[in-house]
Amino acid sequence: MSVSIGIKNVVKRYGNMTIIPDLSLEIKNGEFFTLLGPSGCGKTTLLRMIAGFNSIEDGEIDFDGKVINNIPANKRNIGMVFQNYAIFPHLTVRQNVEYGLKLRKLSKAGIKSKVDEILKLVRIEDYQNRLPERLSGGQQQRVALARAIVIHPSVLLMDEPLSNLDAKLRVEMREVIKDVQRKVGITTVYVTHDQEEALAVSDRIAVMKLGVIQHVGLPQEIYMRPANGFVSTFIGHSNLFNCTIDGTTLKFADGYSIEMKNLTETSHNGIAAVRPEEFVPSENGEGMQAKIVSRTFLGKYVQYKLEFKEGMVMPDQPSIEYSQDLGGVIHLYNTGDAIFLKPNPLKINVFTNDLEKSLIRGIDAGVAG
Ligand SMILES: Nc1ncnc2c1ncn2[C@@H]1O[C@H](COP(=O)(O)OP(=O)(O)O)[C@@H](O)[C@H]1O
Ligand SMILES: [Mg+2]
Repeated sequence: MSVSIGIKNVVKRYGNMTIIPDLSLEIKNGEFFTLLGPSGCGKTTLLRMIAGFNSIEDGEIDFDGKVINNIPANKRNIGMVFQNYAIFPHLTVRQNVEYGLKLRKLSKAGIKSKVDEILKLVRIEDYQNRLPERLSGGQQQRVALARAIVIHPSVLLMDEPLSNLDAKLRVEMREVIKDVQRKVGITTVYVTHDQEEALAVSDRIAVMKLGVIQHVGLPQEIYMRPANGFVSTFIGHSNLFNCTIDGTTLKFADGYSIEMKNLTETSHNGIAAVRPEEFVPSENGEGMQAKIVSRTFLGKYVQYKLEFKEGMVMPDQPSIEYSQDLGGVIHLYNTGDAIFLKPNPLKINVFTNDLEKSLIRGIDAGVAG
């Protein structure tokens, strides 16, 4: 039932504005695939092209190899879930879920058993006779999800489905969505600008910027070995340091240096990206000296904002951060303390000065031609 999606060199223009210049992706059958990027980068535009609500100016989109460019939206067999639930206010939960099946002229018994199954799967059977106005946001979104999948669509498209929910409910609902998707096994394209949500739900993620895919990969690949500086700072926090590569040595501006075995260059200027949790504090004055500017106690860890010596870090970063894991720690630092930190050479990423390219060996941005 479910299909693979091929997107080949597609172009989207509005008037003389090019929103998507040339985008290619292969989404596997049954995969939970997420388009992640800042607001305005073209995620909804691309999703609407897959759905058939947007024209495609050039290139091709196929389902299981069959080009769908000219197939109208209502013939593409797609289930959709949006941010604003879009369920019928005058129909009960059950009637909302039944709606798509009734249009398809199934037998009464067939409709009943399908609806029963889905109501149970998304856990809304207990309030199946209620009107939507008597449901919470999370419950309404469950109804929208049930209604989208009850028709057994070839593809499920979701555009920021959790954006209207509060933080706690967002976490709960992303588990519901992931769980239901896994059980139904349907190819899903999910759009979000929330990187944590993307990491939590996706089989694979495509990070987009200005209509261009920056990196496609597993959540852990994108987090640990980002293809460029944009991905490294958009997904989680990265502290960016000026550095030089000399042979297999990575040197920071204060002279501190570490050995790296995975650099693609032996003589280069660059930017080293160190995540807040990748610093190891040292007691013997080895490492890079920093001053604690502020401390935020967060329970599992303590987040410190840091200041390094002149010239150490790339200018104009929102903050330089160190997270101290409280698992094995007894001593907290205070504002004003001078500390020495060693970045973990196994975790560190190095980029060209313009942040466009990683200088770590073996990184594949996964961007199809
Ligand atoms: N119907 C439209 N006409 C003109 N420009 C549009 C239209 N829809 C979207 N855009 C523009 O396309 C870009 C991408 O928008 P969108 O796909 O909604 O981004 P995202 O979903 O990533 O926030 C934005 O610059 C937006 O202003
Ligand atoms: Mg959008």
